[in-house]
Amino acid sequence: MIPFLPLNRINAAYEPELSEVISRVAKSGWYLRGNETEKFESEFAAFCGMQHCTGVASGLDALTLIFGAYKILGKLKDGDHVIVPANTYIASIMAISKNNLIPVLVEPSEETFNINTAHLTKNTKAILSVNLYGRQADVAKEKNLLLIEDCAQSAGIKPTGDAAAFSFYPTKNLGALGDGGAVVSNDEELNNVVRALGNYGSQKKYINDYLGFNSRLDEIQAAALSVKLRWLNEDNKKRGEIAMRYIAEIKNPDIILPQKEGNNVWHLFVIRCKNRDALQKHLFENGIETMIHYPIPPHLQKAYKDGNLLYDKLPITEKLASEVLSLPIHQAMTEEEIETVINSLSKPLQNQKP
Ligand SMILES: Cc1ncc(COP(=O)(O)O)c(C=O)c1O
Repeated sequence: MIPFLPLNRINAAYEPELSEVISRVAKSGWYLRGNETEKFESEFAAFCGMQHCTGVASGLDALTLIFGAYKILGKLKDGDHVIVPANTYIASIMAISKNNLIPVLVEPSEETFNINTAHLTKNTKAILSVNLYGRQADVAKEKNLLLIEDCAQSAGIKPTGDAAAFSFYPTKNLGALGDGGAVVSNDEELNNVVRALGNYGSQKKYINDYLGFNSRLDEIQAAALSVKLRWLNEDNKKRGEIAMRYIAEIKNPDIILPQKEGNNVWHLFVIRCKNRDALQKHLFENGIETMIHYPIPPHLQKAYKDGNLLYDKLPITEKLASEVLSLPIHQAMTEEEIETVINSLSKPLQNQKP
């Protein structure tokens, strides 16, 4: 079976260094907010071309803390509208809702899967642009609007918004050995509030300025991420090479391949097929594991059954949810695996077993 994302094989490439740094931290006796985290934060800020970085416990927390910090700083208030793509992973939207802000769901482009133009409402105060599948969304900064970038799926792309949230969930392009995330920005004030909010609202020990959370990146994850960060550009390059081969060599009239153009770190390689479920079954029977990102859009989830979302109709989002299929793509893929994926897909669907 060609696995969708074999994390054991992927992480084996960073050995023995990964095990060495884990052991170093274990023996150090210091596990949170120490040298490893400080080092990773400054490396990751520099990598992103930003001045500040705060490590947090997850991508969802990174987004939640950004919105929370903007509220504390008086740049957002309860009930403000935040534009967000309707086809994102639900965490993007939850971060908005959790802060008593109103998500305004916008349809993506069928070609890029991303939003490009903002549909502003009177109360719109911010745009949460999502670099879905690793492709940077083409969302320009609007005057008087905050632009927050959800970079959970796009580690390796330089963020351009006022603040950006990253996830280091193990499957991400820069994946930790557990949960992790980061907020990056050029805004020192924002960074200070995010850092405090993720530490019980405290900037100074036992002085609590805000009703905060406990959301910190730990020393073991930070040390592991520092090791993997050194290889991220090279790893992303390999993903890009596989993507270009898939685009050039998969020949199938029943499949729509993703756009080649764009600033993309190919977190996922997502094709579209009207007969998606049959194709997925066929590929599985041919030893290829695929996944669907995502089968049920957020507005149709039970979590939002009571509303609190603003949208009109979302036919593109709903169509994409029924057609998208993610193929295996990662830096540890063998030539044989790549060829098998290409060959198995380069057959018209009608010739495949039902
Ligand atoms: C687009 C997007 N935003 C936010 C998140 C949340 O990140 P995490 O899983 O680290 O909380 C994810 C990933 O799961 C994601 O794909």
